[in-house]
Amino acid sequence: KVTCNGELFKIFITKEQIDERLAQMGRQLNKDFDGKRPIFIGILNGAFIFLADIMRHVTIPCEVDFMKLSSYGDEKVSSGQVTELKHIDAKIEGRHVILIEDIVDTGLSMQYMVKRMKEENPASVSVCTLLHKKEATRHDVQLDYVGFEIPDAFVLGYGLDYAQEGRNLSQIYVLDDEK
Ligand code: PRP
Ligand code: MN
Ligand code: MG
Repeated sequence: KVTCNGELFKIFITKEQIDERLAQMGRQLNKDFDGKRPIFIGILNGAFIFLADIMRHVTIPCEVDFMKLSSYGDEKVSSGQVTELKHIDAKIEGRHVILIEDIVDTGLSMQYMVKRMKEENPASVSVCTLLHKKEATRHDVQLDYVGFEIPDAFVLGYGLDYAQEGRNLSQIYVLDDEK
């Protein structure tokens, strides 16, 4: 168990489970984007570890860039508003874009991203997320690659934070209800 900002969390997805799933997803991406020279766009901050790890399973030519969004601030629930803190530098017109997220929760951030990317006329936009909280998703968005479907609980680690803390944890944890 770990403590983050004074709250107790227990292990939820282990390092081994993450590694195994990322290898599978990488193989699928290699197949699906062979010859397409895709550009991976990581959504900061949460996606930085997932992006770094999954990209090392990608063996086809590709590029990487980043976008920075914020919808949660330091809270455990979404503010309901997406703030764009940094836009990509790359020109994506005519390119195959793969959006990389740590988690799709309400779907608000991803819906915003897909819409935003399409304004720049890419050849395609695909969505790849490590985690998906199906029951919590209210904003309709097509998810092409999902690492793990998870229940509607607060998760932490492997890029995911609680009030900016805990992103460095190498496994994924969930809030421990038992006191
Ligand atoms: C979190 C997470 C996703 C988003 C998912 O980011 O990393 O980007 O919220 O929630 P949604 O589906 O309800 O939009 P956050 O805004 O906390 O910023 P961070 O990545 O810097 O932690
Ligand atoms: Mn995020
Ligand atoms: Mg966050």
